[in-house]
Amino acid sequence: MANVVVVGAQWGDEGKGKIVDWLSERADVIARFQGGHNAGHTLVVDGTVYKLHALPSGVVRGGKLSVIGNGMVLDPWHLLKEIETIRGQGVEITPETLMIAENTPLILPFHGELDRAREAQASVSKIGTTGRGIGPAYEDKVGRRVIRVADLGDDKTLEVRVDRALVHHNALRAGLGLEPVDRAALLAELREIAPRILEFAAPVWKVLHEKRRAGRRILFEGAQGALLDIDFGTYPYVTSSNVIAGQAATGTGLGPDAIDFVLGIVKAYTTRVGEGPFPTELLDEDGRRLGERGHEFGTTTGRQRRCGWFDAVLVRQTCATSGVKGIALTKLDVLDGFDELKICVGYELDGKRIDYLPTAADHQARCTPVYETMPGWQESTEGARSWADLPANAIKYVRRVEELIECPVALLSTSPEREDTILVTDPFAD
Ligand code: IMP
Repeated sequence: MANVVVVGAQWGDEGKGKIVDWLSERADVIARFQGGHNAGHTLVVDGTVYKLHALPSGVVRGGKLSVIGNGMVLDPWHLLKEIETIRGQGVEITPETLMIAENTPLILPFHGELDRAREAQASVSKIGTTGRGIGPAYEDKVGRRVIRVADLGDDKTLEVRVDRALVHHNALRAGLGLEPVDRAALLAELREIAPRILEFAAPVWKVLHEKRRAGRRILFEGAQGALLDIDFGTYPYVTSSNVIAGQAATGTGLGPDAIDFVLGIVKAYTTRVGEGPFPTELLDEDGRRLGERGHEFGTTTGRQRRCGWFDAVLVRQTCATSGVKGIALTKLDVLDGFDELKICVGYELDGKRIDYLPTAADHQARCTPVYETMPGWQESTEGARSWADLPANAIKYVRRVEELIECPVALLSTSPEREDTILVTDPFAD
């Protein structure tokens, strides 16, 4: 049976929610492998809207196992609230349908405080984070001072872990003018939620191995986008995890051979939230129009997203770093009605043409996009369910995108409705 990884191939917000939902209906296990509740996935199932942040998209479908992998960082208070909200919408969530890897690091309140304090402090260090404590929690993970799910099971261990974390954090907090953490209150809060989290805790790596051996289909649900990857993104304006597809293995405990197909989700234009380079950003009427037509406001923070033309250079790069076999192209209908469309096909750096985004920040800043102009279309592509429903110029646009990114379209999504999808290649097909 094929296992599929879904990754965002731009800066996130590519419309992963709908595609993941569409695929999760056909998967047995849905596993998140990185990020935390900085993500925002909106699902519409039988007319009900579900907004998920930390929970895998599979939870809203009966008979599936949803997994929070060790590659994530988990705010236990947020998770319990999210579970309550989703249960309130009539969805059953039990230890049989949701498992949390025992080695998942926890986001604690001081991580969020640190994230927000840093963002508020100096303009030089502002990343434009979601303020959810994601970065500080990952820092503690690699700093070997994070508290993990399994630590909640033993009071002595928990105290030792908390003390280890506080030595570091109280020193940092003093520097930022924050009060020291109230150790007793923190321990009390952790003890209070421990049993409610531990009921979902499991050796996820083992469960997944067994599922795989039994021929179950696993869908690895990525969050954010490859250009926010800690190694291959537009550093330092990135999130703090590996977002690219390789992380699906390390973030769950399966080997890389468990990945059969990587599906990259690609929006027909480009958006980004937060600070950082964005070569094709449009600060004009076209940019405003993309934002309005595409409803480009963040699900998690409500922030307005920056908008720009499709950047084929960046997507070719992310398809390479994630090993994308096929893309799901989304929001093509947002481009309806433009007279002309531009696609970035290369950059000019100091008078030379280059075909990738360089790593050095000053080089990135000096890169100017080289555009190819394509004719637009006036007809509506919204809701198209076959190629025959698309105007000729829309098909030309899609074909040009495939050529430039060197990767075929596997799925084409033409509206938020599940059925408005053109299937070219089934990612789950063996
Ligand atoms: P953090 O992940 O909260 O640390 O934020 C780091 C950067 O990633 C910021 O630019 C955020 O706007 C961006 N980011 C984090 N999560 C998402 C997401 O789900 N979609 C789009 N951008 C995101």
